[in-house]
Amino acid sequence: MRFTPSLWTAQLAGLAAAVVIDMEGLPDTGLDTSSWTTGTLPPIADCVDLNDLQIAAKNTLSPANYAYYRTAALDEITYKANLFIWEKIRLNGFSFRDVSNINLNTSILGYEFAAPFFIAPAAQAGRASSGAESNFVKAAGAANILYVPSISSTQSIATIANAAVDGQVMFHQEYIWSDESRLQSELSQFESRGFKAIVLTVDNTGIQGIRDRQMRFSAGGDSGHSQAFTVESLGRLQSMTTLPVIPKGVKTAHDVKLVAELGLPAVYISNHGGRVVDGAPTAVEILLDVHRLYPEVFGQIEIYCDGGVRRATHIITLLALGCRAVGLARPAMYANVYGQAGVTKMINILSQELQTTMALMGESNIDLIRGNTTYINTKQVELEMFGAPLNIDTSSTPYAVAVGSDQSFRMNLNNLVASNGTNSTS
Ligand SMILES: Cc1cc2nc3c(=O)[nH]c(=O)nc-3n(C[C@H](O)[C@H](O)[C@H](O)COP(=O)(O)O)c2cc1C
Repeated sequence: MRFTPSLWTAQLAGLAAAVVIDMEGLPDTGLDTSSWTTGTLPPIADCVDLNDLQIAAKNTLSPANYAYYRTAALDEITYKANLFIWEKIRLNGFSFRDVSNINLNTSILGYEFAAPFFIAPAAQAGRASSGAESNFVKAAGAANILYVPSISSTQSIATIANAAVDGQVMFHQEYIWSDESRLQSELSQFESRGFKAIVLTVDNTGIQGIRDRQMRFSAGGDSGHSQAFTVESLGRLQSMTTLPVIPKGVKTAHDVKLVAELGLPAVYISNHGGRVVDGAPTAVEILLDVHRLYPEVFGQIEIYCDGGVRRATHIITLLALGCRAVGLARPAMYANVYGQAGVTKMINILSQELQTTMALMGESNIDLIRGNTTYINTKQVELEMFGAPLNIDTSSTPYAVAVGSDQSFRMNLNNLVASNGTNSTS
């Protein structure tokens, strides 16, 4: 065939329209972006998982806004570890169980929610949608899941509180400002606006992490954080509010134990999505270290975790390791390019994945996964981290099954069938 000039033009136009997006090493599940237009929101139906929502946001947001959400500290080693630690974990599923009614309901700090995951605090939701944080409040309220707004939100504390549905429970994140009058004023607003707890972020001491991806677009960053925040300061802060204080950004077993000893009701393990100390461990590794050093803590205090959670299987892993509730930040920020509908879609995808995975693993009650290490095998991580597997039981035999030899098992089964009033073995 001979290429005429008009054919060349048509070919080039076709090439220009085809969107090629760097998928950043995310799992390839067949997302087809060839019909997308850069800078334009793709059809929400194209997104079937949380990674798809990230790619849709990457296609839609300005490079500066995408970088703000996506950025992480230094070489992003912790950011990547958060995303890929899951590849080292195996889940154990059990047959012969009734999973006709799956129950995701659980409590967080004594409040009842429809799922064990929540929207973690993240600054500047307005970069993705004019509805900003209100979209999170409304989607979380409709689904009865927890949302923890950031103190660095686009919208004010009042606007966020006013978007809540009747009876909706929210916690509020706070930073350790060196300006005590600012601190006191915000703490008072959390109380008067009906927030039920303060998630106090303690990992941005004085300064935030160095984030190259974001620095290429702006030199800006948080400032005004206290550089001298000690246990005594924490005590003083607690005395300034009647709300429970939950330290967030705890990243060693030692500090988890310390928070429990201080008598606080909960602790929030997080490496800030890899945005502070590059090289900090993942939530899975920190939880394993707590099992190794201070296993009693699981009975003393609620533990929340986040970092790289994109699938129900990640939530199940963290719950099985003893975590009470699991936060997601970037997925919600990305979903917000579709406004409230996107955030709702994110919640629905995760809930559906949880229900399906639990049914296939043979567990109908989410509360029975929590702390049940028979559901997971984390030996590969333990070997890498500690040089030897831990002494916790992550075998796939949760209880002794007295089946004996083949013959006695057959007899047991026959008895079971007889006692159930049926003699059909077909
Ligand atoms: C864009 C962005 C802004 C964030 N802002 C805050 C914040 O204001 N306060 C805070 O405690 N954590 C903040 N975080 C950290 C999150 O709460 C959370 O710990 C972390 O991002 C979880 O990892 P994930 O994004 O992989 O889910 C932010 C994270 C992102 C991605």
